[in-house]
Amino acid sequence: MHPQFASASEARGIPIWFVHADNGEAVLKAFGERERAFAAAVGFEPKPGKLLLLPKLDGKLAGVLFGIERPGDTLDPFRPGQLVHSLPAGIYRFANAPHDTRLAALAFATGAYQFTRYRKGEARNVRLTVPDGIDGDDLSRVAEGVALARDLINTPSNDMGPDELEAAARALAKQHGARIEVVAGDRLTKEFPLIHAVGQGSPRSPRLIDIVWGKETDPKVTLVGKGVCFDTGGLDIKNDTGMLNMKKDMGGAATSLGLAHMIMARKLAVRLRVLIPAVENSISGTSFRPRDIYTSRKGITVEIGNTDAEGRLVLADALALADEEKPALMIDFATLTGAARVALGPELPAMFTDDDALAADMAKIGMAENDPVWRLPLWKPYEALLDSKVSDTNNVSTGGQGGAITAALFLRKFVTAPSWLHFDIFAWTISARPGRPEGAECQTARALYALLCARYA
Ligand code: BES
Ligand code: MN
Ligand code: ZN
Repeated sequence: MHPQFASASEARGIPIWFVHADNGEAVLKAFGERERAFAAAVGFEPKPGKLLLLPKLDGKLAGVLFGIERPGDTLDPFRPGQLVHSLPAGIYRFANAPHDTRLAALAFATGAYQFTRYRKGEARNVRLTVPDGIDGDDLSRVAEGVALARDLINTPSNDMGPDELEAAARALAKQHGARIEVVAGDRLTKEFPLIHAVGQGSPRSPRLIDIVWGKETDPKVTLVGKGVCFDTGGLDIKNDTGMLNMKKDMGGAATSLGLAHMIMARKLAVRLRVLIPAVENSISGTSFRPRDIYTSRKGITVEIGNTDAEGRLVLADALALADEEKPALMIDFATLTGAARVALGPELPAMFTDDDALAADMAKIGMAENDPVWRLPLWKPYEALLDSKVSDTNNVSTGGQGGAITAALFLRKFVTAPSWLHFDIFAWTISARPGRPEGAECQTARALYALLCARYA
């Protein structure tokens, strides 16, 4: 189990009472006169985020009051994750139910995450007894997948190039007994021309990582993750602020590996495939150039309008391969466009699909899992914006408006599978919130895990 969790046999734990405007008085009444007087003396109010430590006569901790939103008010189901940082070391338990017991417990684990590769972390000795009726092993699987994705994204590019991303994929495949194949060199140049083109400017050579797991007869679910280990923009170079966070441009790959961990650890009845085009978009004499034209794996010829629109190029060849075996469900993750962030901000990944039922399911589950997504349209008329005068398509649109949509429309040219989901993610938390430390974030994986469990568990 996750180190933040304790089993019920280990200790009952110090009680945490969740209080709000409607139940605050009743909870204090149940404690007794002394506690009520103490709460009044220190001016405790049952407001979201407020904390009160109640002492016993011997000075030990009797219990904790923690303010949450009143039921019905806009609420953050991860709010209790804040307690990991504000309680003294010890083992605790939920004495009454927060808004969502499962997500509150999960937030203890995801909120305790620290990136400790380059310096020691702080002690995280606030542990939670897994609440009755909650599957602690499942929460642990999810938290591990999230931590894996965050670690990969947080790791700077000097230690997370295509080689290291491949090593991480190999380690995960080994852990779960999955097969893994990596296509590189001449075979990549011939079979995946767009992946090669984007990666050809870097001494850290491009490759396609291909993980397969599960029974061949089970429904095929294929994940494709953008693995651009650093995005300089290429010859169409980014400016300093644009480039600063581009170590996270393999966030889609990290998300696909995090989700794959959850699926394989749970042993879902799917034939899982994970495809990761791993490249570095670098600047050198061998970089691909604006107005170069490449014939993609699918045969579609692509004129390069902008070398900074590299994500859609590497995804195009990977999606084409994924599509060849006609999976029941095909999902890609990519830090694809700044435009998706302009439209929806950092917390809401954009979702694209032609499958209305799937979109509705996913939107609902995303809300229920506190891993929300928002659908944007694959607006057919904008396809014309991708036209090239000399090849089948350009990789960027003219005008630059609706950039997240035109990027998704470009990807769709390489997909025939009826159930395809594309997520344009940010993969980052700009300032910490409960359960979500500042830095790398694993978006959409928990929602998809819940969707797949509902279908295939
Ligand atoms: N990786 C970037 C998109 C990105 C930037 C995601 C910042 C999250 C934060 C992608 O490769 C890119 O550069 N996209 C360009 C596309 C444009 C050239 C059509 C963009 O969004 O500006
Ligand atoms: Mn780019
Ligand atoms: Zn990019």
